[in-house]
Amino acid sequence: MDRLTVQSPAKLNLVLDVVAKRPDGFHELRTIFERISLSDQITLRRKNNNKITITCNHPQVPTGPSNLVYKAAKLLANDFSITEGLDINIIKNIPVAAGLAGGSSNAAAVLAGLNRLWRLGLRPQELAEYAARLGSDITFFLYNTSFALGTGRGELIQPLALKTKLWHVLVTPRVKMLTQDIFTRLKLNLTNKKDNVNILLPFLRKGDMLRLAGALSNDLEPAILSLRPDFIYIKKKLLDAGAIGVCFSGSGPSVFALAESQKHALSIRAQFDKRFTQVFVISTL
Ligand code: C5P
Repeated sequence: MDRLTVQSPAKLNLVLDVVAKRPDGFHELRTIFERISLSDQITLRRKNNNKITITCNHPQVPTGPSNLVYKAAKLLANDFSITEGLDINIIKNIPVAAGLAGGSSNAAAVLAGLNRLWRLGLRPQELAEYAARLGSDITFFLYNTSFALGTGRGELIQPLALKTKLWHVLVTPRVKMLTQDIFTRLKLNLTNKKDNVNILLPFLRKGDMLRLAGALSNDLEPAILSLRPDFIYIKKKLLDAGAIGVCFSGSGPSVFALAESQKHALSIRAQFDKRFTQVFVISTL
């Protein structure tokens, strides 16, 4: 096998509770991940040289060692003394630095893809350890599950066996937000903290869309809005367009709406502010 092409989907966070700040500087999270039908495509090609190269159709994606996919490939190449070359081609559809974990998903696809291409024989738990070394959001994508509970930094994954399929309208303003900046701005208020994961889960399990809509939440929202107070407008306009619930994903700036069906999602998109150009109708994958 000389080449391998894999899909690399994005995620949303239906709940993102920040539980505590940790001594290592990271934050302890409880989050519900949802895998969504917005994907990049990654092709790995073995090369006769000894270089790792990255090619991408998106001008803002770095093609050097700062790209997480480069770091993922380098880590495995070093540990397994692989000296042959590799080209990683990324067809980018997921907006960059948008709270959708596109870069993390790409890194997971490369770890899992190279495990096959280079026949490394890594077990799922070993792949998960590599993922956690590279970032907090990567492990989720190694699991073939639509929904999962994420704890720790977000890297400890418990897949959720749920049959629910959700429909969304996703709006991504063309502004990059760095996760680190948002966490730095966060003011942790631990008093009267609700367990939003356990509040939402029964509604997600039953497919109770109205109650699910009311249970969406993201503790990073105040920090996101402290940087861009105007983004509250996106939530308001999605609700005006008929969304039953709205929420920021991850560290923003993406906002997603919950719709009751595909038809409903299409109608929300049709009524949404035409000045926004990154508006997607998506579903659970
Ligand atoms: O792990 P990742 O590289 O995605 O994290 C980016 C930055 O976001 C970290 O350097 C840290 O500042 C912040 N972060 C955090 N707590 C988490 C995840 C990320 O403080 N659970």
